[in-house]
Amino acid sequence: MSRRDPAPPASKPSASKSSASKPSASAPPASPSPAPLPPSAEPEARIGVLFVCLGNICRSPLAEGAFRRVVAARRLEHRFHIDSAGISDFHEGDPPDRRAIAAAAARGVDISGQRSRPVRPGDFVAFDWILAMDGANLTALDAAAPDHASAHVGLLLEVAEGRAKPVPDPYYDGPAEFAAVLDTVSAAAERLIDRLLPPPPGARPADEAQDGRVAPAPKRRST
Ligand code: 4NP
Repeated sequence: MSRRDPAPPASKPSASKSSASKPSASAPPASPSPAPLPPSAEPEARIGVLFVCLGNICRSPLAEGAFRRVVAARRLEHRFHIDSAGISDFHEGDPPDRRAIAAAAARGVDISGQRSRPVRPGDFVAFDWILAMDGANLTALDAAAPDHASAHVGLLLEVAEGRAKPVPDPYYDGPAEFAAVLDTVSAAAERLIDRLLPPPPGARPADEAQDGRVAPAPKRRST
């Protein structure tokens, strides 16, 4: 079963690294045989985030592009593994819909290199968060989740903002609806990163950019 969480709880900040202390003026001279180095710190794990819609040509590519932009703006690319996928394989191998590409390009986001792919069973283990655009996507994800799934599966807007609302499908609409989707997923992206990787208390923006913290969201089983 996959795990369903409406929103990750606020996390405690992880313990900050101790800074190396400088020798005091009265310290004895350095020993000729240096002390062994402490074990190197564990590399910080990447948080896997997969955005999912029906065709992976409109909403989830925009969500992926918006989230990548926020992550890049905060210089946190090294902390995330980001992708998008579709419930269906209708458009497998296709670039995003030209209207989605245009809406993103109008805001300086290039999603033209993305290619549609269907959700795969391995995604439920490879990603920490699988975020659906609407309830039908969520139902399909639940049905597709293998028994050994470990990912949290939820609605994007519910996980990011606590709003159990869908991202409307713009496929049969026009440029204004695609732009509205980009607005929606861009706002959600800002909230999502704040929840997945909250800055340490008292951090200034410059600190946030250099040292994000992992929110150890406790996983709980869906009912
Ligand atoms: P998406 O939009 O799920 O946001 O990528 C759609 C893409 C394709 C279709 C419907 C919605 N379709 O019917 O092919």
